Amino acid sequence: MRVLNRIIPLVSNFISLEGGNMHTCAYCLTADKPYLFDAGNPGDATNQYAPELQFHGIALQDLGGVFVTHAHGDHAGGAIELHEMGIPLMLPEAEVPYLEDMPAAFDHFFAPSFRALGQADLIPEIRMREKLGYITGPCRVDRPVKDDEVFALARDVHIRVVPIPGHTDHSVGYYWEEAGAMFTGDAVQGYGQCVGALPIIQNPPAFARTLKKLLEMDLQVMLTGHMFQNRGTHAVTANNVKFQKEIDHFLKENLELHEIMLNGVADAVAAKGDVPFTELIVPAMDNIAKEIPILADYTAPIPRPYNFPQLWLDTLVAYYRTVKGELK
Ligand SMILES: [Fe+2]
Repeated sequence: MRVLNRIIPLVSNFISLEGGNMHTCAYCLTADKPYLFDAGNPGDATNQYAPELQFHGIALQDLGGVFVTHAHGDHAGGAIELHEMGIPLMLPEAEVPYLEDMPAAFDHFFAPSFRALGQADLIPEIRMREKLGYITGPCRVDRPVKDDEVFALARDVHIRVVPIPGHTDHSVGYYWEEAGAMFTGDAVQGYGQCVGALPIIQNPPAFARTLKKLLEMDLQVMLTGHMFQNRGTHAVTANNVKFQKEIDHFLKENLELHEIMLNGVADAVAAKGDVPFTELIVPAMDNIAKEIPILADYTAPIPRPYNFPQLWLDTLVAYYRTVKGELK
């Protein structure tokens, strides 16, 4: 099966709040109709994808739908404008509230971190704000998708919804069965988009199970949601499309990274005992920084409220909650 001549990569760029040049990767799969898999940030579909698709003779209005891997704004944001054009928006059913109800998204994605960081008093006001971090919407989801559901998009294009949680609690991959190709969104992200912080992992035990499951699937092609970094890459060589052994290597490296983060936090808890989470940040990150490059200034005071550049803290909180037995 010739896979890549059926897939148009759509890479949009954005400037992070820290001023870095970042990319989001979505894909157009040409089946009986063209379908998008993720849609970037708000505005990406109309501003950046439309000219690229036009080059291939596709107008946005031709799209049969957009399959979104998870509710984060840099994947679902661009789907909102497509939804407004009448193009069906598909999202894992358990993530639907996080796109339709932004305060619910805050409670789910951010409230645990605010509590762990001793900032619970800020929650009532912040949860009602329009935007925070990667929350986007509100937007109605046209078609919630269920785990293991299969969409027949063409005679030779059957897309199975595969739960691959960890980055978020209900992230899915969209698996093109005939091609052995999986659109994985942010489920597997190595060091993240930039070396120097932690990848964004909301549920570490689920992340480890996802990695093992993907290893067993023996994927032929993995199409990720960003140009993620790993040990062998830097900004200009990171690749959003991986093949066979490269996928295997990437998944195993992610498992190593998971163990480094889990052990780093567990060792800090063992050394410090039952102290507030804020007192564990530096010792835990010191442990982690012995194994992987960390450029984030984790010794700096946490701002009130902490915001987008500190998202690595969400990962650290999630690993802390794992060590405490709160996440399984
Ligand atoms: Fe994400």
